[in-house]
Amino acid sequence: MMKTTTALLIALAVLTISTGCNSSQNTPFEIIPDMDHQQKWKAQMENPFFSDRRAMRKPVEGTVAQGKLFADDSYHLGVVEGKFIGRNPEKINKELLVYGQRKFNTYCSPCHGQTGDGKGIVAQRSLWQVGNMLDPRIKEYPDGEIYSVASEGRRTMNGYRNQIGDRERWAIVAYVRALQRASSAPVADVPAQLLPSLH
Ligand code: HEC
Repeated sequence: MMKTTTALLIALAVLTISTGCNSSQNTPFEIIPDMDHQQKWKAQMENPFFSDRRAMRKPVEGTVAQGKLFADDSYHLGVVEGKFIGRNPEKINKELLVYGQRKFNTYCSPCHGQTGDGKGIVAQRSLWQVGNMLDPRIKEYPDGEIYSVASEGRRTMNGYRNQIGDRERWAIVAYVRALQRASSAPVADVPAQLLPSLH
């Protein structure tokens, strides 16, 4: 009796697994269809409801999606009247720096390294010459220029405007400034409680 039950259970398990990932051309027998079948339109599909038959709709003319009104060029581009803005428009505080550190480590450090010296893992494993943000030349850039490089890219570096939001990029700029400051800080700047950890 026990044997029959076990055999049945195994058969059921095999059936469930085989119907779940069916690679044959036949319509699978679905015990649990999950959400495999839904009434929806995917990108590039045809939709007879609209006269142009496109499922993908364009934004209604003259409208702006929430959070997409970039009316302030200085904030969005880091540029005013063709010149990079000098100072980060965000309020610089610990919260912004911690946020910027997280974003820098995610988006910039693979190439630029966690200290910004341009020796990230990509730089180490390729012949790509990654910019050193601790270079005096880049230290002298206005905040708007670093923001602009992060947004639009420069020479062999791609821009990250579409991957990283405006506030995130300004937070990154603030953190890059902190890295630059730290790279030439005298020992006197190190908080007393951290001094023993220096070697
Ligand atoms: C995929 C690799 C890669 C990533 C990721 C990357 N960079 Fe770069 N970056 C480069 C390379 C390569 C250069 C050198 C460009 C050149 O001079 O041709 C560069 C140069 C720079 C420069 C110096 C530009 C100059 O005028 O010389 C700055 C500033 C900079 N990057 C900022 C950033 C910031 C901020 C991020 C993160 C948002 C970032 N980069 C992410 C590859 C990268």
